[in-house]
Amino acid sequence: MSDRPDFQPSTLVIHSNRSYENQSNSILFPIHQTATYIHESVGVTKGYGYSRGANPTVNALEQAIAAVEGTLHALCFRSGMAAITTLCFALLKAGDHVILSDVIYGGTTRLFHQVLKNFDIQYTYADTSDTESVRQAIRPNTRLIFIETPANPTLKLSDIEAISTLAHSYENILVAVDNTFLTPLLQNCLALGADISMLSTTKYIDGHNATIGGSLATHDEVITERLRFVRKIIGTIQAPFDAWLALQGIKTLPARLAIHCDHAAQVATWLEQHPRVVKVYYPGLDSFPQKALAERQQKAFGGMLSFELDATTEQSLRFMEALKLCTCAESLGSVETLITNPATASHCDIPLELRERLGISDRLIRLSVGLEAPKDLIQDFEQAFAAVFGDAR
Ligand SMILES: Cc1ncc(COP(=O)(O)O)c(C=O)c1O
Repeated sequence: MSDRPDFQPSTLVIHSNRSYENQSNSILFPIHQTATYIHESVGVTKGYGYSRGANPTVNALEQAIAAVEGTLHALCFRSGMAAITTLCFALLKAGDHVILSDVIYGGTTRLFHQVLKNFDIQYTYADTSDTESVRQAIRPNTRLIFIETPANPTLKLSDIEAISTLAHSYENILVAVDNTFLTPLLQNCLALGADISMLSTTKYIDGHNATIGGSLATHDEVITERLRFVRKIIGTIQAPFDAWLALQGIKTLPARLAIHCDHAAQVATWLEQHPRVVKVYYPGLDSFPQKALAERQQKAFGGMLSFELDATTEQSLRFMEALKLCTCAESLGSVETLITNPATASHCDIPLELRERLGISDRLIRLSVGLEAPKDLIQDFEQAFAAVFGDAR
C-alpha cells in the first residue's frame, strides 16, 4: 500500500495487501495454489512464471512481514531453517568465516556443524552478549555475524546496535539476527542496525501451530535479489497454502503478543517466588542480569521463559509429564502453552559439558506461554508440583 507508513502495526498486519487483483472481491487474499502461470503470449507473463520463483499468496505474506519489519523487502521460505540455509548459500562462499551466538537454536548449530562445514564455511561461537568477545572473534575472512537474541533457550541477550556498529566498522561483515522469540513488533532488528532480520514464522507469525515457515527481511535491494535468486535455485520458497495460513495468523500478531507478554510476566513472577524453583530466566524480571538491555532494545519482554527446579533431572522431567494443561511439545509462539526440555529436544546434540557451561542443564525447562488464563496455567503447575513432590514445602 502506498500509504503504508501512516498505519500502526495492528492495522498493517490486516491491510498490508489490500490493493491486489481480486475477481470476486473476497475479503481474504486468495490462495494461488498453482505451480505455474499462463503466458499471455510467448515469454509474456503477469510477473509470475513458476511458483518456485514467486507466488502471489507468498508475496502477500511477504508484504505483511515487510510491513512489520519496517522495510520494503521480505522473502518467505519453507521453514526457518530453509531461510537460514538460503541466507548462507546466498551470501557466503567456501573459506568464509561466520561468528555465531554461543547460545543458539540447536538446528542452527547442526546446519553449520553437519552441513556447511563440508562446504568449507568456517564458524566459531562467541559470547555475543559481550560485544568485546565478538570483536575478538572477528577474523580477516569473517563475512557474517549471526546472532540470536533473546537466545533459545536461556534468553541471553546480545546488543544488536553495538554488534552492528562493530560489524559495519569493517568493510564486508553483515549482521543477521534470528528474531524468532520476539518478532519485529517487539524488537526491530533492522532499525537497530542489523542487515538482515530472520524469523521462524512457524512460531509467533503463524501463532497456531498450523505451518512451518521462515522469513528474511532487509533494507538492501541487492541482498534481497541475491536471496531471491538462490531461493529459486535451491527451491526453498514457502508453499502457497502455508503462506495463506500464516497470512491469517499474522493479522492477530499484535493482539496475541500483548497477551503472551502479559501472561509470561505473570507466570515468571509466580514461578520465581515458588520454593521449588531455583532459577527463572525471563528478561522482565529484576533478577534477569540483562534487564536494562531488554528495556533498551526490546519493546516488551516476550512470551518465552525458562526455569530450573530445585530437583533432580528425573524429578524435573516427571514434573513436565505431570502437567495437564501445558503441552509437552517442541516449538513455541503458539496460542497453546508449550513446554520442552531443551537438553533432550532442540539442544540434544550439544555435549553436556558445553551445554552446562552455557546454562542449558539437563533439568532446564523452557516454557512458551500461551493465551490460556494465567490462573489456569498456575493451577496446572501447582498440581504438577503436588504430584511430583507432595504438598510439603
Ligand atoms: C530461534 C529459532 N530459530 C530458528 C528455528 C527454526 O525454525 P523452523 O523450525 O521453522 O525451521 C527455530 C525452531 O524452533 C527456533 O526456535
